[in-house]
Amino acid sequence: MSVVALIDFDPATRAATGHRLADADEPLLQVAELGATRGDGIFETASLVRGHVQALEAHLERFVQSAAMLQLPAPDVDVWRDAVRAVGGALTEAGVAEGAIKFVLTRGIEGTGVPTGWVHGTVSPDFAADRADGVRIVLLDRGYRHDVPRTAPWLLAGAKTLSYAINRAALRESARRGADDVLFLSSDGYLLEGPTSTLVLRIGPRLVTPRIDLGILAGTTQADLFTWAESEGFPTGYELLTPADLADADAAWLVSSVRHVAPIRAVDGVERAVDAELTARMNDALDARTA
Ligand SMILES: Cc1ncc(COP(=O)(O)O)c(C=O)c1O
Repeated sequence: MSVVALIDFDPATRAATGHRLADADEPLLQVAELGATRGDGIFETASLVRGHVQALEAHLERFVQSAAMLQLPAPDVDVWRDAVRAVGGALTEAGVAEGAIKFVLTRGIEGTGVPTGWVHGTVSPDFAADRADGVRIVLLDRGYRHDVPRTAPWLLAGAKTLSYAINRAALRESARRGADDVLFLSSDGYLLEGPTSTLVLRIGPRLVTPRIDLGILAGTTQADLFTWAESEGFPTGYELLTPADLADADAAWLVSSVRHVAPIRAVDGVERAVDAELTARMNDALDARTA
């Protein structure tokens, strides 16, 4: 089950004018599409739960920020919001309870100067086991210092670009090492993020996550989780964290839009404690979101 909406752009002004639903089984992209040939574009993936696209405004905000970092035309958030909701509505009408909606903006077909945009909705994989039993992770060097956004902004650290080949290679490396997922480290030894997720630690009563000025994505799920956590009385914070902090933490999770909260049950082959009760409360809170 797959639903696609194409974003229409006015070739003269390059402004988005609206969207139309398209047949997901038809060829819809051209071979000179820079998103495909150069990974020159941005994307977001939002979760759809029982008819609600979750954290849509935060995803749209990050989409706009990523576009600015790549000097792409600023997305018209009203057009994109309508398109994402239309895809969510069609999936829901087709009986999809949990879905993933990816929206993509690229520099377009080479030579035209007109962007390409689309929204693609699918059924979510079943993440029940990851959410309940947890994931084994490995720590992998990302090869950049923690201050790379300031020293080398052209590396686009912190933008959600289509260039995810490295993130996928890291996941294959984790599988080779018998693990399920990855936590990247800066070359100078700070905890960063997963290839598709944000790290959250519980240290005593506090929930903490790495600072977002380290060239990592500002997680929409982590932000909603912290809002909930504050309302439940957990202080929260953004910090510079090291592997020692992870080892000493009372509990650790990778959090992301579609999988939600997955407890970390082993790091580099060393088993660690899982807080099953808090994990379940977190997943219930995220699941219950209606926006
Ligand atoms: C590199 C990276 N970090 C963090 C996240 C988590 O972000 P979100 O909670 O908004 O899904 C993602 C999501 O795919 C990601 O790709």
